[in-house]
Order: sequence, then structure tokens, then C-alpha cells
Amino acid sequence: MKKNIAVLPGDGIGPEVTAQAVKVLKSIGQTYNHELDFAEALVGAAAIGVTGDPFPKATEEACVKADAILFGAIGDPKYDNDPTAKVRPEQGLLAMRKKLGLFANVRPVASYDALLPISPLKEEIIKGVDFVVFRELTGGIYFGQPRGRSEDGNSAFDSCTYSKEEIIRVSRLAFDAAQNRNKRVTLVDKANVLATSRLWRETVKELAFDYPDVELDFMFVDNAAMKIIQNPGYFDVVLTENMFGDIITDEASVISGSLGMLPSASIGKEVGLYEPIHGSYPQAAGKNIANPFGAILSAAMLLEYSFGLLEESQLIQKAVNQAVEEGFVTEDINNDNPKSTEEVGDEIVSIISELAAVNS
Ligand code: IPM
Ligand code: MN
Repeated sequence: MKKNIAVLPGDGIGPEVTAQAVKVLKSIGQTYNHELDFAEALVGAAAIGVTGDPFPKATEEACVKADAILFGAIGDPKYDNDPTAKVRPEQGLLAMRKKLGLFANVRPVASYDALLPISPLKEEIIKGVDFVVFRELTGGIYFGQPRGRSEDGNSAFDSCTYSKEEIIRVSRLAFDAAQNRNKRVTLVDKANVLATSRLWRETVKELAFDYPDVELDFMFVDNAAMKIIQNPGYFDVVLTENMFGDIITDEASVISGSLGMLPSASIGKEVGLYEPIHGSYPQAAGKNIANPFGAILSAAMLLEYSFGLLEESQLIQKAVNQAVEEGFVTEDINNDNPKSTEEVGDEIVSIISELAAVNS
């Protein structure tokens, strides 16, 4: 197989973790004889510095041309504390999602047996947890108009809007996924307060008739926030709107032991984009200490979702499991004997070649 992958390392720890994911993809390419070509492009604060635009035209073109996109992180503290900044790195991420039609963000959440002790949650609560969140990604309050400030500057407003079509297309993906899992979709909303949530409920209920084998239930987001901590084993497929999905997936990452473990796929119209959910983590940037597993597992999702390479994808996941079990991990997981970002990346490459040799 011959494929082009656009690599957008971005800001903070993005470049370090993305480099490990690329290394792992290259080793998969060698092992399975796939010709994977990588082309880097600028995004985020890194792009603002060079072009003034967090998602420059050249990057958009590179993304559109690619067969898949591997993305690191966006964000820079320089902008976080400057509410007057006209251009913000995050705008690049939002523009990218919108322009590439990435309307569904898929975030799997699982616990690792070896990491059960480091989660602040009790082992018996998180053991065996395995669910996936489908977060709508290009609608809702992140994009709704009007938004802004009143003329006197003393009030501000955002709008949350959704159309049936926007709800249906992401919901279909969630139901399709549920059919291959434990056949339960939980719609997380705030239908007791929000008009958009009531539209979600009505629309998803109707859609559920197309999936008679899938059970659909509803949960208010405040209750879901509690359930994720209290009884996360309940969930199979969680379907939700943009902002609720943003919040509950950070919350859910606690189950895996570290925010650094979670990968994600953003899919939709054409090309898919894969990124760890941890963000730019500027305090760790350049220190070679960041956890690369989220990025490496995102590369595994890329192989599965964009290229249909299931075996290759599973090999990466196996290698990550093994490294976690051996305690070959970064300091967010093991403070006593931490490995560097690069060491962990190298270890995954070497486990992959060992496992591949055994398989062949
Ligand atoms: C995420 C991030 C982004 C979001 C930020 C950086 C705009 O938190 O991908 O979850 O809120 O969607
Ligand atoms: Mn987030």
C-alpha cells in the first residue's frame, strides 16, 4: 500500500510526541511493506510565528492532498493570558476541523490493568472499562453565530446551534460503532434546559429506528459527569455535542491513568485527522518527558480508520500494552524510573519488530 500522510506537529509537546508516532508508522511501513510518505506542515502558534495564520493555506492544501493527517497539539501560553490577541492558535484547530469537514471526533477510553493503581479512581470501578465517545466536532457553541461582545463591552454572548443534518451524520457513525461493540448508545445532553439538546433527543430517537439491534438511552450531562467517575463500566458508546464531549473526555481520561494515554480520530467528509487529546502541555515542551502513547495510539487509529489496516493497527496497540505492562513509560505514569519520550518511542519500535518476527 502506498499512502501520503500530512504531519502537523504544532505546538508545545506536539513535535516531540508526533516524532515518536512517525517513527512507529515508519517501522510499520517497513514491517508490512507499505510505502508511507510523510510531509510536514505548520499549524497553531508555530504557524502564526511564520505566516500570521494558525492554519495557513499551504497547510490546508497539504491536508486536502493527503490520505490522512497526523496532528500533535495546538496552544501557547502566550495567547492564553491575552484576551485581546486577534489571532489565536486554537482558531487554527477550529478552522482545520471546519474546513476539512471533520464533524466526528472519536475518543476511545479504556483502562490498562498495569495502570489501575495510578488512577485516582478505585481499581474495582475502572477495571475492564472500555467505551468510546463520539463527540460532534464542527457545530454547537464552538461555531454558532452570533457571538461577540456588546458595544459597551460589558456583556458577551455565544450561540449554540445545531441542525438535524449535523446531528444525524455524527449519530450514524456512533450507531454503526455500537453495532460492532456492545450495542448501546448513550446520548449525553441537557434536554431539560437547552433547545438544541431537545433537537438532539428527537433526532437521535428517530434515527434509532434504523438500528433496532442497538439500545438507546439518554443521560443529562451533569449526571453523565458523575456516572463516568462512579460507574464508567456502564458506558459502551457515548454520543454527544461538541462542548459536552470536550469536557467529559478530559474527565474520562482519568480512567486510563493519564491524559497522555488517550488518542483520537477526527473523521467526516474526506481525509481523517488523528491526534492525542492531551493538548500542547507547554510546561513539558522540549524536555523529552511527554507521554507519546496518545500520539502513537492515534497513529494506530489512523491505520485502522483511514487505511483499513487492522492488523497493523492492532500490532501498535499490542506494543503499547506491552510497554505499559513492562513499566517502560514516561514520568506521568512512573515517577520512580521514568523513560524519556524518545526512549518510549524507540521501545515501541523494538517491540513491534519483536512481535512481527514472532508472527511471521
Ligand atoms: C480538544 C481541545 C480543543 C477543543 C481546544 C484546544 C480548542 O481542548 O481538542 O479537546 O476544545 O476542542
Ligand atoms: Mn479538550
